[in-house]
Amino acid sequence: MSSQNVFIPTLDQAQTITAQYGSPVFVTDKQTIVDRVQTFKKSFSKQTKIFYAVKANFNPHVLSVLKEAGVDGIDTVSPYEIALAKQCGFAPTQIIFTGNASSDQELKEVMQHEVLCNIGSISELERFGRLFNGADVSLRLNPGVGDGENQNVITGGQDSKFGIIQRDMPIAKALLSKYNLQLKGIHCHIGSGFYETDVFAKAVYLILEQAATFANLDFIDFGGGFGVRYQRSKDPINVPSFGNAIVDMVKNFEARNGKPIEIRFEPGKYLVSEATCLLSSITTRKSTEEKDFVCIDTGFHHLIRPALYGSTHEIINLSKTVGKKERVTVVGNVCESTDVFADNIELIDPNEGDIVAILSAGAYGASMSSVYNLRPYAAEVIVDGDAMTLTRAPQSFDLMFKGLGFTQL
Ligand code: LLP
Repeated sequence: MSSQNVFIPTLDQAQTITAQYGSPVFVTDKQTIVDRVQTFKKSFSKQTKIFYAVKANFNPHVLSVLKEAGVDGIDTVSPYEIALAKQCGFAPTQIIFTGNASSDQELKEVMQHEVLCNIGSISELERFGRLFNGADVSLRLNPGVGDGENQNVITGGQDSKFGIIQRDMPIAKALLSKYNLQLKGIHCHIGSGFYETDVFAKAVYLILEQAATFANLDFIDFGGGFGVRYQRSKDPINVPSFGNAIVDMVKNFEARNGKPIEIRFEPGKYLVSEATCLLSSITTRKSTEEKDFVCIDTGFHHLIRPALYGSTHEIINLSKTVGKKERVTVVGNVCESTDVFADNIELIDPNEGDIVAILSAGAYGASMSSVYNLRPYAAEVIVDGDAMTLTRAPQSFDLMFKGLGFTQL
């Protein structure tokens, strides 16, 4: 399979999988993930490391595919993500923790895991210093620019809560020395789902300028955010052009610095999004005088991106290759008006019982799922050629109830 493919199972595969594990179900293609890791690796220099952002998809089987494919480490945001990464065979040195508003308790847990903390605020740096005098640390900077697929997922610039802004760098430096903290790395992450190199390259330039003011850094980490195709009609992102955009800047930095430096990236969605689709079945057709609805047996409890960000995941009717194209609105089964997957799209002859595929659902799909309306999580399956592995079982009522942790009545 080409590295440019968005994964879509065959109707045969879809029927077998839904018959065996029920509908809805997430289906992931192993080879697509492997291809993405390889494309990413080839686009940057040898000393570049990939720290996969596990928040995008924390299925341990997906992690194991990524590890086997050559991912070097894991970017985490919580102690449980760290515990999972360790369980999947990543050493503490292969894990970075970039917390947000971390409590003392959380920081202590991370340090017990012997994982490097990446701190993104002055007040947290002060608390970290008081708690762990002399410890290794990394700093998340806000380079003052941001980019992403929409306003909701931009994490750089003056409107963003993330990272230490340039104005505060003298304070950060004073705290490092006050608490004898050993600065190992400089980090930024300017947003999620960018497609052009210009803003990204600007952030790289600004971060390198900051990095040049520190001696003895082990690494510089430019975060993730590489965009994916939610619609196959969109051109794939040109990751090698990101590589080209930064290679000279990093070389200049190294020349100034007098030695090579490890460069890290933290792609999440780029590595996993296009490898997975969410299969769902049409349960109901209905119309008003304004709209023609196709109602399916999943909802924003399984894929919240359309409801939360207005993301437009392509949807196709797998059950039909020929037939009349209809203009419809695809809605889910949650009792909320915002549970809309796609408005005014074309589907071929959509009928009750047909299987639809919602594409590029591998990142922030299952990982942002909930049991709202007490509907269970969707099962997850990985396909590898003809082989098929159930990686997350359908959730029975008992399993769900245990997971919710209610105490005895
Ligand atoms: N590194 C850090 C520090 C991050 O905060 C994130 C994502 C990443 C890396 C990975 O970003 P990615 O390569 O996946 O864009 N739920 C939203 C995306 C939120 C991203 C949060 N941070 C969505 O579905 O678009």
